[in-house]
Amino acid sequence: MLLEIPRVLTAAQLEQCRQALEQADWMDGRATAGYLSTQVKRNQQLSENHPVAMRLGAMIMDSLEQNAAFMSGALPAKVVPPLFNRYGENETYGAHIDGAVRPIAGSSDRVRTDLSATLFLSNPGEYEGGELIIEDTYAVQKVKLAAGNMVLYPASSVHHVSPVTRGARLAAFFWIQSMVREDHRRRMLYGLDASIQALRRESPQSASILELTALYHNLLREWADV
Ligand code: NI
Repeated sequence: MLLEIPRVLTAAQLEQCRQALEQADWMDGRATAGYLSTQVKRNQQLSENHPVAMRLGAMIMDSLEQNAAFMSGALPAKVVPPLFNRYGENETYGAHIDGAVRPIAGSSDRVRTDLSATLFLSNPGEYEGGELIIEDTYAVQKVKLAAGNMVLYPASSVHHVSPVTRGARLAAFFWIQSMVREDHRRRMLYGLDASIQALRRESPQSASILELTALYHNLLREWADV
């Protein structure tokens, strides 16, 4: 399931990100790539212990904890703190698969990457190219979102970022270990939750709300690893 989550950041938070990232010292993105990825990765990144990355990453994590669509769609158990990348002209990241397990810097904890997330920090008009292209189960999806919006997709998908031919593309990216590791189960829970929310708006007195909510929690109890 590909899930677009709008307005993860406010306009003021976005501006704060942009200003800090424009002045930051970027390094070659190949520093964090595995053997296969090194051959296709041409971009820039902030190191994971860069003070700007840590400060902005914490701000994004705080926003996500308040974001109902993210919580419902990802059912997060653990989140790798966000990293930041920049694609200038002629930079690209060819077809690759994200590693299955990520260490968390400064801790002995590790995260199984069930979901990948890209939070767009540049607006589509600021650059040409730079689409995130995901080979989903049924189709190839091209994703290029407004600044402040985020896409969540199964980390098991092969994906690439097409070359930027003008301007620059800034983004935050990270991974999530979900309480429910199977994509098809998360999709059913997300659909059920959305239907319950709609029923609460449309018929707040309906007895079905309690029955469906019980069903939601009992399915989550069956499937969740915590
Ligand atoms: Ni990737």
